[in-house]
Amino acid sequence: MRPRHLATLAVAFAATLTLGALPAAAQGSLNVYCSAQVEWCQAAANAFQKETNIRVNVSQKGSGEVLAQIRAEAQNPRGDIWFGGTGDPHLQAAEDKLSAEYRSPMLDQLHDWARKQAEQSHYRTVGIYAGAMGFGYNPELLARRNAAPPACWKDLLDARFRGEIQMANPQSSGTAYVMIATIVQLMGEEPAFEYLKALHRNVNAYPRSGTGPIKAVARGETGVSISFVHDAVTERLGGFPVQYVVPCEGTGYEIGSMSIIAGARNERNARRFYDWALTPAAQQLGAETKQFQTPSNRNTPVPAEAPKMDQIRLIDYDFAKYGASAERRRLIERWDREVNSLPR
Ligand code: G6P
Repeated sequence: MRPRHLATLAVAFAATLTLGALPAAAQGSLNVYCSAQVEWCQAAANAFQKETNIRVNVSQKGSGEVLAQIRAEAQNPRGDIWFGGTGDPHLQAAEDKLSAEYRSPMLDQLHDWARKQAEQSHYRTVGIYAGAMGFGYNPELLARRNAAPPACWKDLLDARFRGEIQMANPQSSGTAYVMIATIVQLMGEEPAFEYLKALHRNVNAYPRSGTGPIKAVARGETGVSISFVHDAVTERLGGFPVQYVVPCEGTGYEIGSMSIIAGARNERNARRFYDWALTPAAQQLGAETKQFQTPSNRNTPVPAEAPKMDQIRLIDYDFAKYGASAERRRLIERWDREVNSLPR
């Protein structure tokens, strides 16, 4: 394992991180639940703490896991703000009033897709980045298996990928839910579930975290992953043999989001972080920590390494429908009952 991965694991396994020593004139604290990659979470917390003297505690978890945690803590919220992670569970939190309404003065600077996320949630969440879904693969491993890389969703069902594919578990991972919602939108629900059942035969594991599968590709543990393509870029720049492809039938995407938790004890600090996280300076910390989503502020430079969203065949992802609380819960439960329980 490379040192970077060791570091990532060490941080990921520490439930809560308290940053640095408390400055003398501390301005209170802020508890951030973060569903972006841990390097970005940490950099954002460091920078915000340095700028404001607010002591920041970060805890990194998948989007589905944070949603479950916020729900469990609703009577006694421990988190103040939820930064990053796919948009659907943020919309679900908004509908269930687990997040607080806030109209940031920064909204005017955002791309339409990010503002729309705010409007759709009655200002309980907002878009901070966008990223497209696709496949990551390890060309060296596939060459050894004499397997051509996949180009289309339908290729993933091919016998050449038996036991060779990973996707995350949609209970914990927002990435995996975007994949399921994408397939349902591309094919219709019944054919989509037939597809997911057939795919199950070729899947060797459903890791908890959305980036688990691409990290397994990078380490040569699996040939193919279903991942956000920007996460494949991160691994490639880390020196691993990783390529990505966008499926020929078209693909879904995420509007990575941010929400203030309802009843937050440090709401003032949460609002301050919210406004700050929408500035170009804060958004550039993404690229600085090798995270290549497309940022939501129109003035944040799009990193050169970021997959070009306007050149990807994106479906017209119905965020209102697939971010609705009952629909999201229903689809995940159906997947668990009808797909995850099947033998392989
Ligand atoms: C990675 C991606 C983000 C995405 C997140 C979702 O960090 O870079 O773009 O929002 O995964 O994580 P999850 O574990 O919920 O799938």
